[in-house]
Amino acid sequence: MTTAKFQKTILDWHKDNKRNLPWRNTKNPYRIMVSEIMLQQTQVSRVLPKYKEFLQAFPDIKTLAECNDADLLAIWSGLGYWRRARFLKEACKAIIKDHHGKFPKDIKTLLTLPGIGPYTAGAISCFAFGNTEAFIDTNIRRVYLYFFFKDKTDIHDADILKIAKKAIPNDDPANWHWALFDYGALVLKDKKINKKSRHYAKQSTFKGSFRSYRAKLMRTLLAQPEKSMPKTAALDFLEDTLREDEQDYSASEILKSLVQDNLVKQNSTRIFL
Ligand code: ADE
Repeated sequence: MTTAKFQKTILDWHKDNKRNLPWRNTKNPYRIMVSEIMLQQTQVSRVLPKYKEFLQAFPDIKTLAECNDADLLAIWSGLGYWRRARFLKEACKAIIKDHHGKFPKDIKTLLTLPGIGPYTAGAISCFAFGNTEAFIDTNIRRVYLYFFFKDKTDIHDADILKIAKKAIPNDDPANWHWALFDYGALVLKDKKINKKSRHYAKQSTFKGSFRSYRAKLMRTLLAQPEKSMPKTAALDFLEDTLREDEQDYSASEILKSLVQDNLVKQNSTRIFL
């Protein structure tokens, strides 16, 4: 399929099927960051009420940067992955401290903020500042796999990004990405397309299994000079890896199982061999 035909297929469908979501009616980068972090692991329907409640409690960067952790946790509860809330607060603190409170616009600088990876940086830069660079999440990946990699497997994101870069219309990159999200989420929802991706971790094999994350942490621990690391660092490492792989395991369960099996020892603050 040519990129022109692909664009037309997606945009024609989207004209009548747009989802009207509150974070699509703002260009405020803080609001967009909050929505994208919430949407990373939580369904749109569960994010909607939390997004509203969160912005009422923490309307801007400064309020969140200075908030009390207990208040933040209370509002975040129900969304899960509490570490995401902590990253959001840390990102706000970094914007105030390192950028004089001015939200960075370009992807490279956004990537330096705590908890902001390539997807979130691309999304904020596009939706808040009109950046035309490509980015992919699960839904967008599904669309490219479906249209451009029909009979192929083990597709690398780098190959998808090559096509995605060519496909972005320069006149309205935000609308284009909304259309891709909506097509992936609404039209291709139940198709098991993401299995074709090399970034999709199959549950039944070692790659992507609970055991594989235990092994990853063991390798990281072994690589430490003293074969020891702070518990917080171990949990952060696991959370980051799990999030990148879109896995639902809990970091603390993984650590707990290593301790139970006596593979790792712990005191109140550190783990060690
Ligand atoms: N609109 C903007 N960002 C979105 C996302 N991550 N998922 C679904 N719709 C969105």
